Amino acid sequence: MHATPRWAHRGYAGRYPENTLVAFVAGAEAGADGIECDVRLTKDGQFVILHDECVDRTTNGHGRVADLSLADIRDLDAGAWFHDAFAGARIPTLEALVDYVAQYPRPLVLNLEWKALKPDDATMQRALAVIYRVGIFEQVLHSSFQEDILCAIRRVDSNARLALLTEPGRDAQDAIQAAKAIGAVAIHPDYRQVTPRFVRRAHQSGLRVHPYTVDDAKMMAWMEECGVDAIITNWPRAHWPEESGP
Ligand code: G3P
Ligand code: CA
Repeated sequence: MHATPRWAHRGYAGRYPENTLVAFVAGAEAGADGIECDVRLTKDGQFVILHDECVDRTTNGHGRVADLSLADIRDLDAGAWFHDAFAGARIPTLEALVDYVAQYPRPLVLNLEWKALKPDDATMQRALAVIYRVGIFEQVLHSSFQEDILCAIRRVDSNARLALLTEPGRDAQDAIQAAKAIGAVAIHPDYRQVTPRFVRRAHQSGLRVHPYTVDDAKMMAWMEECGVDAIITNWPRAHWPEESGP
């Protein structure tokens, strides 16, 4: 196991098609301590795992997720764009990923990044129902760049564990204060924002620090030196001798 936990970004996205079950399984099997993924809403109100606003880059389909139904999305190939070997991989539903994590023999952190959702309580209530029906509450960390989404989650579940994502360039102290104000347990900075001082200030405010997306071995070592609490990476095995990273 790693000195500092590694969370597989979009699954093991360095080597497998991002945000597919193939990539999540590979991340877990590679020894990742957690899984990061992106959650979006379809036209018919279903939660699916996809990073981009549109399906074009990572599938054989076209259009915005928000304009497609789950039935449309289920038909798409989300693996062949990455390599022929992964043809037939599908965009997972949130439910399928949650089920995978729930049955995995060791507790994986499930870091759900909520993308572009209307922050209404009914939507978040439905989302949490999908997640909590399998009883993995303590494993789930909800993150978003959108503070309003995190606030909606907080309104419907006062115990939900929240993490604020921050863009490079945002003032460190401002980001830490914003995270505290919404009752977050963690802050997820771009790794370029991270310094020993940043981590110290976050820790003093009671926040864990989980930088994204760290793919370089030297940068991983620097993050550890800075004292971060987990590292979000496309290469959860990058430090192992048999794989040197991208
Ligand atoms: O959750 C960390 C990271 O994934 C945020 O950026 O664009 O890769 O979703 P992005
Ligand atoms: Ca993400």
